[in-house]
Amino acid sequence: MADSKGSLQDQLYAVKRQLRTRRRVHIKLPAGFSFNRGGSKNFDPVVDFFDWSLKNCPVEIDFTGCSSANYQSLALLVPYCWHLRQAGCSISFIYDKKSEQSASHMWTIMGGRGVFQVLSDSTVNFKSANVKPLIAVRNPADMKTALESAVSYVARFGVEYQRTLRYVLAELLYNANEHGRRDFKWRNRRLITPAVLQFSWYEQANEIGIIVADIGVGIHAHLSQAYPSIANEEEALRLAVQPEISGTFGKHDPYSNRNNAGMGLFLSSSIVRRLRADMHIVSGNAVLHISPNDLTSHTLNSRWNGTFVYISMRLDQSYNFAYDQIMQELREEAKSEVSVRQKEESEHRHYLHIYNFFGKNAEDKQSAISYRNRHLLKAVDEGQVLVLDFEDVETSTHSFLNALLASPIRRMGMAAYKRIKITRALPDIRETLDYILDDNTSPDGADIAKYDDSDDQQTLF
Ligand SMILES: Nc1ncnc2c1ncn2[C@@H]1O[C@H](COP(=O)(O)OP(=O)(O)OP(=O)(O)O)[C@@H](O)[C@H]1O
Ligand SMILES: [Mg+2]
Repeated sequence: MADSKGSLQDQLYAVKRQLRTRRRVHIKLPAGFSFNRGGSKNFDPVVDFFDWSLKNCPVEIDFTGCSSANYQSLALLVPYCWHLRQAGCSISFIYDKKSEQSASHMWTIMGGRGVFQVLSDSTVNFKSANVKPLIAVRNPADMKTALESAVSYVARFGVEYQRTLRYVLAELLYNANEHGRRDFKWRNRRLITPAVLQFSWYEQANEIGIIVADIGVGIHAHLSQAYPSIANEEEALRLAVQPEISGTFGKHDPYSNRNNAGMGLFLSSSIVRRLRADMHIVSGNAVLHISPNDLTSHTLNSRWNGTFVYISMRLDQSYNFAYDQIMQELREEAKSEVSVRQKEESEHRHYLHIYNFFGKNAEDKQSAISYRNRHLLKAVDEGQVLVLDFEDVETSTHSFLNALLASPIRRMGMAAYKRIKITRALPDIRETLDYILDDNTSPDGADIAKYDDSDDQQTLF
């Protein structure tokens, strides 16, 4: 009896194993897995490799046959494997034992074989050879390790390079951990998916190649919380490198409780432009290239589900530059750029500080109607942006907010989402405002609101 039970169980296991084997997905690294194509950078061959749709299946990553890779592209496999694991996949690797130049060998010297140990234990990092550092960054201790490792790596090129690199990497790693952060559950604990840093020195070109990668929401999704009208991922990248762009107005404020000046990418990309360096920012399906003579973007064939920044910088002991001076000049540049933008914006916006007009309990419907008719409708007709600041406002009623905003919203139509900026509103006020906005831009809501409006007019006159 026990025997037949045992054999039934064995049979079941065998069937399960077979089914699993049948579902196994085999993905093979291409022969050339590198961004570097004859002096220029092409991200498509690498980004095309990543299939983000795989879920709950065994995946075999095959290194055999990949005879030419670069360390930064291989480093992207790390967050990709973490993504697969979080999507319920079990992952195995097939290595190539023959060639010293093979991707398997490179993966091993970077410490890539510890990929899952690093993910599940925040005290563990990659055991990479000193010349090919691969570092997971998810907490201040990792950040310190990463920055010190980078600084010592370029020590022979002088202190100005050290300070510059430290600054740029700190900004990129902070961004990856702060805006590109992705949590996951592991054995009933919430863990952070680390950002990944890898760098190598290419002696022949006298160039250092650096990558910082994450699998977070991506720049477009993150910035869209503050600027819902960004058209696409390329536009988001172009916006992200402007000074002081971190939003405080939009539909949701992703920066509350934080201290973001919106200078990180502006300063680091500007430093790159001053030095003989190239920076590529890849997020989603877009890539932005920044170099001393170029700022161009384009769309890739496939996506990177997150963000990575790739920098290649030519190093030269005889090249003199002063980090402090560059930073000071860039801050000046940012200041004047921002003040031009602010001047332009202020000429095109109508600012209303709700507390100053209506007090901490914004409830007086008649004053709302009067303000709307005197100022807001005129501002709307002139094409201005309405900035409504709810600082210190403790309560507000639906009828007050509706009286103030329903007809301006209807006049703007869908553009209201772009042209009305709300700031510092408490969550319940924010919710009411969102409701009014949605209600007056949907075809059904507009009719109801029309009726409300005529009611207001009657009360007013
Ligand atoms: N790795 C990332 N993932 C998602 N969004 C990002 C990432 N890096 C940058 N961003 C977006 O680009 C914006 C601009 O980044 P930037 O570093 O210039 O400013 P910041 O981080 O907001 O402020 P600061 O760097 O001055 O603290 C961010 O606010 C965020 O919306
Ligand atoms: Mg930043």
